[in-house]
Amino acid sequence: MKIIKTENYDMMSRKAANIIAAQIINKSNSVLGLATGSTPIGTYKRLIEMYKEGDLDFIDIKTANLDEYKGLTKDNDQSYYYFMFNNLFKDVNIDIENTNIPDGTEPDSKKECERYEKVISDLGGIDLQLLGLGHNGHIGFNEPQDDFVKTTQCVNLQESTIEANKRFFNDVTEVPKQAYTMGIGTIMKAKKILLIVNGEGKADILEKVVNGPITPKVPASILQLHPDVTIVADEAALSKIKM
Ligand code: GLP
Repeated sequence: MKIIKTENYDMMSRKAANIIAAQIINKSNSVLGLATGSTPIGTYKRLIEMYKEGDLDFIDIKTANLDEYKGLTKDNDQSYYYFMFNNLFKDVNIDIENTNIPDGTEPDSKKECERYEKVISDLGGIDLQLLGLGHNGHIGFNEPQDDFVKTTQCVNLQESTIEANKRFFNDVTEVPKQAYTMGIGTIMKAKKILLIVNGEGKADILEKVVNGPITPKVPASILQLHPDVTIVADEAALSKIKM
């Protein structure tokens, strides 16, 4: 795992955006795996700036997002579709037809998981997967569990995840209890992985991800086995790791 330490969140976002920009410049029809949460917002802002400055072209870019809450419609302001549209897609020249997110409104989990897995394989796989890190070590919505799940799945969210994400909702009861997420196997098939982490609150879990045993109890620890992972993290998040 290659680790890039930055002074703060802003520099983490700039470095991560540069890595994604390099991917787009090197392969204009790249398939980007995208993430939501508060961590990537600055990265997306910087990518928008680069696009507006004329340095990036998204016209042939295709995307596949990691996850989506089950039960939320696209126009719900807490859906990940809404997040992606408002934090990136609407401000760059991407063709919305080339963007993919699990369909939270599909009630048949088996059907939706199979459909989404096929979407990714039809795209030819993911060139660069951007990841944030949950406080319990989750990536996408792959919560700590007894086994690594290979393909796209419907998961029950843990109490700690519901608690962490309630800040975006009016009330904790509004946080969906289930989500669709790419499986760990789907994520591990990406050619390159870019994990971004910031803040002291993630220092303990990041240390376990990097140095701890590889275990489904810390889902992101599997990244130790991926041949091309870059972690861009700020000093606070890296404070428990000797470099
Ligand atoms: C959410 C998302 C993840 C995200 C993580 C961290 O639940 N499903 O994809 O990486 O939690 O979120 P944040 O960046 O807001 O800390």
